[in-house]
Amino acid sequence: MRFTDKKVLITGAAGGIGTTLVERFRAEGARVAVADREVAGIIADAHLPGDLLEAEYADGLAEAARDGLGGLDILINNAGVITRGPVTETSDADWSRSLGVNVEAPFRLCRSAIPLMADAGGGTIVNVSSCWGGKAPGPNHALYCMTKAAIASLTQCMGMDHAHQRVRINAVCPNEVNTPMLRSGFAKRGFDPDEAVGKLGETVPLGRIAEPEDIRDVILFLASEESRYMCGALVEVNGGKAVA
Ligand SMILES: NC(=O)c1ccc[n+]([C@@H]2O[C@H](COP(=O)([O-])OP(=O)(O)OC[C@H]3O[C@@H](n4cnc5c(N)ncnc54)[C@H](O)[C@@H]3O)[C@@H](O)[C@H]2O)c1
Repeated sequence: MRFTDKKVLITGAAGGIGTTLVERFRAEGARVAVADREVAGIIADAHLPGDLLEAEYADGLAEAARDGLGGLDILINNAGVITRGPVTETSDADWSRSLGVNVEAPFRLCRSAIPLMADAGGGTIVNVSSCWGGKAPGPNHALYCMTKAAIASLTQCMGMDHAHQRVRINAVCPNEVNTPMLRSGFAKRGFDPDEAVGKLGETVPLGRIAEPEDIRDVILFLASEESRYMCGALVEVNGGKAVA
């Protein structure tokens, strides 16, 4: 019960990693506000549906969570979208959506959450970056890698800049995770997702790609007192498969 009475806001709460985060934070005593485009079916303590591409929604989310929960101790910027392909196959719409969800929304959320947390004596923020970008680029995902590099850099900067306010900001950098984001990509390219996930697992030294819970547990660590001296860290979670 590391999070008894802690107030937590999670974006992308309906997704693969998000769902496991909501359940685990609540199981460990937290009160959780869930943000995603559709949150009606999620068991939580405050429901804040909306589109992170809308600036007004993203700007108001931290305050809405604070009001709905009676405080805000922890923010998890987990929502994300993936654009595949090189820049020559990337549209203006891909650019706006990728930058909007993966970089601008976390920027807006951090900008509004940090003062709320600082005024209340402190807090923690965990951003979800990726090995791809947060550590090194992978092939044929130029825009995705660039956005994940941007949020990684922002995390390092904010981690330094706001430690004196007792707001700790870190990021997790997963390699491949078995979620709808990854599986839908396989399906789109005509592969059977189960088979493709199994094959991909053979490229990982631990013998399988990550399950959402493998990433969740590192996010919970970064959100908890156990990581109390960590600020601006990028934590790679890769089963031994580093991005070269
Ligand atoms: N799955 C992987 O292999 C992998 C690897 C590294 C990093 N990540 C990162 O992990 C995070 C979680 O991804 P996931 O794998 O659980 O994917 P997912 O697609 O299952 O979940 C992402 C969630 O973000 C939400 N979202 C997207 N655009 C939104 C918008 N405009 N407004 C509100 N909500 C929006 C979606 O509705 C979805 O519920 C993402 O930031 C992703 O980039 C995933």
